[in-house]
Amino acid sequence: MSITYNQIQALRDQLNDHNYRYYVLDDPLISDSEYDQLFRELQKLEADNPNLITEDSPTHRVGAEPLSSFGSWTHRMPMLSLANAMNEDELAAFDARVKKGLDTEKDLEYMAEPKLDGLAVELVYENGFFVNGSTRGDGITGEDITQNLKTILAIPLSLRKNGQKHPPLLEVRGEVFIPKDGFKKLNRNQEKEELSPFANPRNAAAGSLRQLDSKITATRPLSIYCYEAGMIEGVSFDTHEDFLSTLKEWGFPVNPEIQKVTNAETMVAFHRNLEAKRDSLPYEIDGTVFKVNAINQRNALGIRSRSPRWAIAGKFKAQQATTKVQDIIPSLGRTGAVTPVARLDPTNVGGVVVTNATLHNQDEIERKDVRIGDTVLIQRAGDVIPEVVKVILAKRPPDTQKYQLPKECPACGHEVFRPEGEVVARCQNLSCPAQVKGRIEHFVSKTALDIDGFGEKLVDQLVDKKLILTVDNIFKLNFDDLVNLDRMAEKSALNILTAIQDSKQTTFARFVYALGIRNVGAHLSKVLEKAFVGDIEKFMNAAAEKLETIDEVGPIVAETITTFLSNCTNTDVIESCLSLGLRLKKVEVPKSLLLQGKTFVFTGALTQFSRNEAKEMTEAHGGKVSGSVSKNTDFVVAGPGAGSKLKKATELDIPIISETEFLDMLK
Ligand code: IVH
Repeated sequence: MSITYNQIQALRDQLNDHNYRYYVLDDPLISDSEYDQLFRELQKLEADNPNLITEDSPTHRVGAEPLSSFGSWTHRMPMLSLANAMNEDELAAFDARVKKGLDTEKDLEYMAEPKLDGLAVELVYENGFFVNGSTRGDGITGEDITQNLKTILAIPLSLRKNGQKHPPLLEVRGEVFIPKDGFKKLNRNQEKEELSPFANPRNAAAGSLRQLDSKITATRPLSIYCYEAGMIEGVSFDTHEDFLSTLKEWGFPVNPEIQKVTNAETMVAFHRNLEAKRDSLPYEIDGTVFKVNAINQRNALGIRSRSPRWAIAGKFKAQQATTKVQDIIPSLGRTGAVTPVARLDPTNVGGVVVTNATLHNQDEIERKDVRIGDTVLIQRAGDVIPEVVKVILAKRPPDTQKYQLPKECPACGHEVFRPEGEVVARCQNLSCPAQVKGRIEHFVSKTALDIDGFGEKLVDQLVDKKLILTVDNIFKLNFDDLVNLDRMAEKSALNILTAIQDSKQTTFARFVYALGIRNVGAHLSKVLEKAFVGDIEKFMNAAAEKLETIDEVGPIVAETITTFLSNCTNTDVIESCLSLGLRLKKVEVPKSLLLQGKTFVFTGALTQFSRNEAKEMTEAHGGKVSGSVSKNTDFVVAGPGAGSKLKKATELDIPIISETEFLDMLK
């Protein structure tokens, strides 16, 4: 059956409507999985009818080709910052200042908003279509992150039809953030993938927006609230309130906490109220913002240096308290990190009773000189584990005791290892009982051996019933072991056995990654695979000096690997996996070493091959591709329209070649 433009557009409108209901109205009609189903339906229809695809289709949100760097974007109007009011008196002083500036004694209208703790961005719409998005940068020039912003479902790719013609130019500013629950999920995932967790939602949002590969950004739970305008042509607003309500009609999410206030008293009340609500909001805020509502009054007040005279940010009190350290104990994380934790006299910090605070690591204990018996200042920030900020030395009693982290793992007694230059001590024992579940979850995860159906609940049961002590035990599981577990049907047991069997045909890179050696992530495992041509025996016997000769392996990683492999429990586990049938596929050796040791940067619009192909070709001949030009670059391959990188290459005197010349090098 042939499909018409109207039919496919109806499906696009439907998806856009669901997004609007979810992000703007906060009133979804369908579940996430129903949304996914409609989305896949549209993907299929568009794949079958490529001539009917539109620029603003929701299917354009899954990420585009990776960039080698971000372009820069000069804002048509500078993105200003806000002056701060540190306390309630300073808020009142702001109101007085504004009144004086407008030469009035009467109450004024302000829009009171939460100050979101994310990253300011600018979204540009031309004739209703999203055409560009950028970071704030220094306020004058930011980075062009259009591709990344397109992946954020809360950002409309085209304006909703609200009965009027869309402005030829509309610049909207807002704050991109990661909600608290999305942040928790993201960090659980980071940990599973053996990647360092993000310190807080703001850092996670910043890291996500800075990805050159927008497909990665697309996997991050980013959202946005819009709150200001840049340049607008074709429409004007009398008040900020009007602007915000039109933003909602156009399809932009606007923070639901925003209210109108009229004087110092109501400003302070809003500020106190929001501070009390802070922990229960689903996203992080760090204060309030008050903005003069009438646009003509704003214009009359103007700007002072980099911030407008018509707005102010009200800062929240730091979430700190003092209490006494009862004891310090080592705590073992899922990934083997041994962290010192202070047990505290329970104390209320901003409405939450805190009994433990992290001391991070031994260096931090020493730097802050925290001792058992000390009175300390602790700090809580959102959902992050409370931490000890400093000792109140004036309150130190004479009998405090210094603390040293034990040299042995608190769970298995195995020696803990702290690589030189690293602050965190870790237990690297593959059979450490406290880490077994985490190690198994990692071993079976997607990037590792990818054993389907091997979820957290199954791991819990298998470990609790002592059916698995180390990862190699997975390959010894039989039908009876599985079928006797809770809620395990015969069919599922058989499926899992098949998945285990299938996982035995794997690659060196997957297996080495699966072992969970500290510092050896998915990328480095591939580097090692190449260096050892997939030979696990050679890898197991490699000395630190040999490892250090590998590009990208430094002394710290080399030491982590050799310490891991010098533990015979670990090598026994590897041998056992191999004797239970694990097979590592042969590795393709590079076609040639023509480009060995050479680093290439590809820039401009490539016409003879894609960026991915360029990378593949370079690597197949032993070379490397980098995203930015530096003194370590050997060649810059420039296609039409190359800009700043070409300039940098000329400055650094780096040879610039054409795509044809690059292809000639491979002959
Ligand atoms: S208005 C002219 N509104 O605060 C004022 N900013 O210090 C421009 N921010 O860069 C900003 N929530 O990242 C405004 N409701 C809000 C905000 C907000 C957070 C951030 C934003 C900006 C910084 C200014």
